[in-house]
This record gives sequence, structure tokens and C-alpha cells, in this order.
Amino acid sequence: MDEKIIDGKLVSGLITEEIKNELSFLSITPGLALILVGSNPASEIYVKMKEKKCKELGYYSVIDIQPASIPENELLALISKYNNDVRIHGILIQLPLPKHINEKNILEAVDYKKDVDGFHPVNSGRLMAGEKCYIPCTPAGIHELLLRYKVETSGKNTVVIGRSNIVGKPIANIMLQKAKGANSTVTICHSATKNIADHTKRADIIIAAIGKPGFLKGDMIKVGAVIIDVGINRIEDPSSKKGYRISGDVDFDECYPKASLITPVPGGVGPMTIAMLMRNTLDAALGRIYS
Ligand SMILES: NC(=O)c1ccc[n+]([C@@H]2O[C@H](COP(=O)([O-])OP(=O)(O)OC[C@H]3O[C@@H](n4cnc5c(N)ncnc54)[C@H](OP(=O)(O)O)[C@@H]3O)[C@@H](O)[C@H]2O)c1
Repeated sequence: MDEKIIDGKLVSGLITEEIKNELSFLSITPGLALILVGSNPASEIYVKMKEKKCKELGYYSVIDIQPASIPENELLALISKYNNDVRIHGILIQLPLPKHINEKNILEAVDYKKDVDGFHPVNSGRLMAGEKCYIPCTPAGIHELLLRYKVETSGKNTVVIGRSNIVGKPIANIMLQKAKGANSTVTICHSATKNIADHTKRADIIIAAIGKPGFLKGDMIKVGAVIIDVGINRIEDPSSKKGYRISGDVDFDECYPKASLITPVPGGVGPMTIAMLMRNTLDAALGRIYS
């Protein structure tokens, strides 16, 4: 076992076992609706992986695949149907949506009590205010890794690179809260930030979520930093069977020697996302967030 590696596969497996154990004492069946619009190959893979996990855990799951041409009002009606379906506790709209559909209208149509992806403004607002809410699954997974690996975060400098609504902003909000595994001094960098290395060199914890392979180099970090790599980038690789390989946003070979802890790609943050979706869905079924 490499003690520098934060093993997301291992932790996601533990979470799966914890959910199975909890369910064995309960007589409920958590239900998740997965709505996929169009035929984006990556989205199809993600939805299938989520459904597979539901099956493994004994959840009731529905994959609802709609054509890319679906009018927005029909998609809204479909969401309303699942909002009113008592077997369904969580609703997930696989992003991205086709261009003619207004993503904001769709995400806001999901009942916030079933918003297990945490993208409804009620949940993002409550996250910002430090109140109980559904936290988006990837940031929730990052936080869980920091907690389980007992990373000291209070009073530390955390630099988040990337400010998307899916990863950057929510993880920055989490790290800012006066709470366990958080209470950091948070800096958010983005494409307009000047001299990112000036920020990252001072960071105790760096969370890279930008979608640029190998962006964070060894000379941009200090010795002992904790490095969380959220990036999932496909790099063409004729030597691989699939014709591509997956690379993170961190230059792992350069950062590993200086880091105290580091997530690999694959096998770091990636596996945590589905585990946290399953946990959010269980929480929804049990009325733990909103009763
Ligand atoms: N592990 C998982 O389960 C998981 C889940 C979600 C995403 N991801 C991966 O995480 C990465 C980020 O995803 P995302 O959805 O957050 O991406 P996104 O929506 O494209 O956002 C990227 C962010 O990075 C910033 N950025 C881009 N280039 C930059 C540069 N050269 N310097 C500084 N900042 C830069 C952008 O700045 P501006 O705002 O200024 O444009 C933006 O805020 C992707 O590789 C994605 O595949 C992984």
C-alpha cells in the first residue's frame, strides 16, 4: 500500500458496504430516476454505471432515455411525473443537455427534495449558507476523501482551481464552512487568474478541477501539499486498446514526490461521485435532509 495515495476506489467500496449494511436493517427501497437526453456516448456510460450501482445496492432505478429533439416542455412534464412518483426519491438529469434546452429551467424543475445531484438553487443556496442540503456528488466525494484520510483542513490554505457550478464553486463553499474537514482559507482560481502558481505554491491543499490534462506541475506546489485531482481528460493514445487513456488535471509524476497525499486518475475522485449519489439517494429515501 502506497501511503501517499488517496484511494477513492477503496473509500467508495467502503461507502457501498456501509449503505448495504444500513439497508439490511431497513425495509425501504430507495428509488432513483436517471434521465438521459440524446446519445452522448460519455453520458450513456455514466448513466449505465449509476444504474449498475443501483442494482448492486437493491435500489429501484429507472433509466429514462429521451431523444435529443425532445421539446423543453415535454422534458419538464417528464420531471413533474417523477417529482410526483412516490417510488422515486432522487432525480438525476444527466448533463450536458442539448443546446435548445435551457439547463437552468430543467434543473429548477426538479423537486429540491429529490435533487440528489444538489444542482437546484435551493440546495446550492443552502450549501452556501452552511445549512443542511444535498451536496453535489463530486464535491461531496472530495470532502469525504479529506475526512477519511484525516487531512488537517482547519486554518489551512486551500486553493481550488476551477469555478464551475458542478465542482469548483461547491467544493470551495464546502471548504469555507466552519465545519469538520473544512474551515479553510479558500482561494478560487480560474482562467482569468494571473500567476496561478503564486497561489498554488502557498497552498496546503490544492483541488484541481479545470479539464486541462497535466495542468498542475511539480514546480507549482510546495512540499507536503495535499493534491486532489478532479480532472477526467481523454488523451489519444494509439498504444492503448481503446485508442485513448484518461489523464487528470495534475502532472502526477511531477507532483507525487512533493505531495504528502495525492489522488490518482483514475481511481481517486472519480469512483467517489457515484458512491455519494447513492448516499444522497439513501438520505432522500430516509428523509434525512428534508422530511
Ligand atoms: N471525477 C468526477 O467524477 C468528475 C466530475 C465532474 C467533472 N470532472 C472533471 O473535472 C474537470 C473539470 O470539470 P468542470 O465540470 O468543473 O469543468 P468546466 O465546467 O469546464 O470548468 C472548468 C473551470 O476551469 C477553469 N479553467 C479552464 N482553464 C483554465 C486555466 N488554464 N487556468 C485556470 N482555470 C482554468 C474555467 O475557468 P472559467 O470559469 O474562467 O472559464 C472553469 O472555471 C473536467 O476534467 C471534468 O471531466 C470529474
